[in-house]
Amino acid sequence: MKSSLALLMLLAMALIMAPLLGQALPGQSEKAVDKWFKKQAHAKPKMSKIRLFIHDVASGPDPSIVPVAKANGTAKSRTQFGVVNVVDDLLTSRPGDKSEEVGYVQGVYVSASKEAVSLLVALNFVFTDAKYNGSTLSVLGRIAEFSDNREFPVLGGSGNFRLAQGIVVAKVHSADASTGNRIVECRFHVLHYG
Ligand SMILES: *[C@@H]1O[C@H](CO)[C@@H](O)[C@H](O)[C@H]1NC(C)=O
Ligand SMILES: *[C@@H]1O[C@H](CO)[C@@H](O)[C@H](O)[C@H]1NC(C)=O
Repeated sequence: MKSSLALLMLLAMALIMAPLLGQALPGQSEKAVDKWFKKQAHAKPKMSKIRLFIHDVASGPDPSIVPVAKANGTAKSRTQFGVVNVVDDLLTSRPGDKSEEVGYVQGVYVSASKEAVSLLVALNFVFTDAKYNGSTLSVLGRIAEFSDNREFPVLGGSGNFRLAQGIVVAKVHSADASTGNRIVECRFHVLHYG
């Protein structure tokens, strides 16, 4: 536990220090970002609609969503207040076909309400497909029980999605009650410059 924390800190340090040491990735040096920013000053954002499917694997030998922490009081809480789940879900362009992989969704779901069941959702959509390879979209939002509203803000992104802003609407496409596995459809409307 301690050594993995040390490793994480080392990694974070390396990421922060790399640009200072002149080892930033090509196209992402301070100069390159500065140039890109100036070019966008008068640019109009374009709107992209992207439809994706998240594959939640809740059980079996290799789940993609795992509980990692809870509070002392969580067991007594009727809202599961304090539980943290980490996800690394497969992302595809079609609901059934895992060969249509476009990337991953990585992040956390946190039970963040003491009164009614509600989750804080913080997810990075990481693209690996030919079109958006290496780009990310960052989503931060809330899921509340008994609410049909599954709209989340897209707060930003990287690569193709620098300065992105948008909305993603999510709905369960299919769910398997015996395994808890789910496929969730996400419809993005994103303004971006890339
Ligand atoms: C949580 O519970 C354990 C075991 O009952 C106790 O030792 C510990 O002090 C508690 N921690 C807090 C922060 O209340
Ligand atoms: C995505 O980028 C990585 C790293 O540059 C590369 O290895 C991979 O082949 C690329 N994938 C596609 C589908 O272009």
